Parts: sequence; C-alpha cells; structure tokens
Amino acid sequence: MNKKTITDIDVSGKRVLVRVDFNVPLQDGAVADDRRICAALPTIEYLLKHDAAVVLMSHLGRPKGQVVDSLKMDAVAVRLSELLHRPVKKLDDCVGDAVETAVNAMHPGEVILLENTRFHPEEKKNDPQFAAQLAKLGEAYVNDAFGSAHRAHASTVGVTDSLRPAVAGFLLGKELDFLGDALVNPTPPFLAILGGAKVSDKIGVIENLLPKVDALLIGGGMANTFFAAQGLPTGDSLVEADAIDTAKALLEKTGDKLFLPVDAVIADKFDANAEARVVPVDDVPDGWMILDIGPATIAHYSNRLAAAKTVVWNGPMGVFEFPRFAEGTFAIARALADLKDAITIIGGGDSAAAVQQSGLAEKISHISTGGGASLEFLEGKTLPGVAALDDK
Ligand code: 3PG
Repeated sequence: MNKKTITDIDVSGKRVLVRVDFNVPLQDGAVADDRRICAALPTIEYLLKHDAAVVLMSHLGRPKGQVVDSLKMDAVAVRLSELLHRPVKKLDDCVGDAVETAVNAMHPGEVILLENTRFHPEEKKNDPQFAAQLAKLGEAYVNDAFGSAHRAHASTVGVTDSLRPAVAGFLLGKELDFLGDALVNPTPPFLAILGGAKVSDKIGVIENLLPKVDALLIGGGMANTFFAAQGLPTGDSLVEADAIDTAKALLEKTGDKLFLPVDAVIADKFDANAEARVVPVDDVPDGWMILDIGPATIAHYSNRLAAAKTVVWNGPMGVFEFPRFAEGTFAIARALADLKDAITIIGGGDSAAAVQQSGLAEKISHISTGGGASLEFLEGKTLPGVAALDDK
C-alpha cells in the first residue's frame, strides 16, 4: 500500500479522529454481530497505547439525514467499551459546540464515540462546511473504515481537506494488502468464485478478474442468467432478463476460463421447506427454481479448488439461509478451509456471513469487512476513502 499508516505518524498526546465502520446489525437494542467492531480494535488499542485520545466516528444504517432513534450509536458504545475494557463516552451528536467542548477536554487514553454521522444530510453530500466541523475534532485523522472506503462522504473524504496527517489504520491496511496482493501479485493457480443473486452486480468484477485468474467458478442466482443466455430452460428461477445479452457477451469472450454449474438443487417454491430435487442444469422443469448448485458441481469446483494457491470468493452459491439449499455454499467454504498452502480471501457481505455460519472462519486467510467496498476494489476501482489519504 502506498499510503501512510498510523505507524508513520506521531500520535502521542494528540487527539486522533478515527473513521471506523461500525455499521453493525442491532437486535433488541444490542449489537448482534460485533465483527466490524472487533476488526477495528487493533487500531484503537495502538492509539491508546501510544498516548492518544481517540475520537471515533461512524455511520450506522441509512437514516436519510435525520435522527432515527433505532440507529443511534449507544449500543455500539456499550459493546466497544466491553471489548476495550475501558469507558467509552458516547456523545449526542457528531458536530457542534457541545461536541467540541467534550473532545477538547479529553486526556490521552480516553475514548469518545460520536453520534451517527448520517443523522446529518451533509455527511453523504460530502459537504465542505460539515467536513470542516468534523476536522476540528482531531489533530490527526485515521481512516480504518474499509467497509465505507468506497463512499466519498464528509467523514471519509471531505474531512481530509482540512485535517492532516490523514493516514490508514491497521484494518484498512490489512484489507488493501490482502485484496491488492490477490489482484496484483497472486500466486498461481489463482481461482475466483463468484455467486450471489445478480450478474449485473458482478459484471465489473468478472471483467477485471478474468485476465488475472486461471479459472472463474460461477454459482448462485447469477448463474441462471448465464443459463438463459445459453438457451437453457430455467423454469421459475431468478433470471435478469436485461442482463442476458451481457451474459452472452461474457461467455463469448471468456473462452474456457469461466465455469458454470453442471447440476442444480431445484425447489418447487421459494421456501425453506420447499421440495428439493437435484437435476442437470439443462433439465429444470417448468414451475421449479434453482436454489443451489448440485453435488456434481460441488465435486467439480472442489477439485479445481484443491490445486489453487490464491482464491477470492464473493457471493454465496445458493440460498444458504434455507438449510436445504445451503450445501453448495458450505461445501465451497469447506473446500477453501481445507487448502493448506493457499491464500483464501472472502469478499464481505453474504459470503462472509456464510463462512461465519459454517464455523470455518478461522481457517480462511482473510474475511473482508467490506461488502460494497471489496466488490468495487475487485472491480479495479479506486476507493475514494483511500485515495484521500497521505501518500507514503
Ligand atoms: C456497508 O455495510 O457495506 C458499509 O457500511 C457501507 O454502507 P452503505 O452501503 O450504507 O454506504
């Protein structure tokens, strides 16, 4: 990574404003999944150990520029305080006089969490005055919010106009190192597995990865649009009619690198208790829908994966939320977990959730905390939150 990180600057005795991605699921007023909070701890702990006062800011959900009680950061502050074993003071806003007074009174070793930045419409507009108000809260800026690095918002980009140094935290650095190495310097054979519902979400990734990978394995609902492009019957399966031509063009130009499922688990309705059958992909009856890859595809993909030295996986192979249609996704997770001498990377979002659910997360080299951000990175796009930071 060609950006400065927190180890390149002196933070001792300074108030450091840190953008984290604490956009975490909440349930019954508590944090339901603290992985993103845990992932930011190394940066926060490093700053505290080096005598900084830490001012944290994040968005939570999509409150559309107004205060939404259920999207306040209080539960996040409680969980963070438990994880840090020290008090975390949550403020009622992220800008303004009261906030400035509170942060100006901080001592080294103290932690403040600001209120949801998206309670202000100016955050998403990357409004310069709002960004300057945020910038006043720190004497140095750290971005550790990989999950939000694809957003050009006030807290990820605008704030750096008037607050320097502006450097990367450990999580941001680690994400960029793993994903960047896979794109720029992968140990071959390099395999990518792409799944998820829509091919339209993954076209950029397919186009960027194809020249770099040895094989691209396709699964999930997006495979159906490729089947339709090949003229196969897809029954009631999810097919993106307006992406069929794109799928055709991709099939033509991908030669023998792109692999599609050869069989599927089909269902008579979209339901966890639907009747399930295995059929070859050219034999999907009317009224049935593809909800998972089949056993022959699992065997084929697992075989290919067994030889891989670098693997990037983004998007589940089926509707893994329904146990009857989860085997394809979990089998791919097992195939990755079984690799002894390979770099295995899971793009965030659903595939990360599936790997957690499979209990195999510990055996994966890197599970990204960014859904949209990792997709945009794999598309080869520059992430604005990274571009805004100080060059090395
Ligand atoms: C995410 O969950 O992907 C990030 O926190 C970004 O959230 P957003 O899609 O609402 O910008």
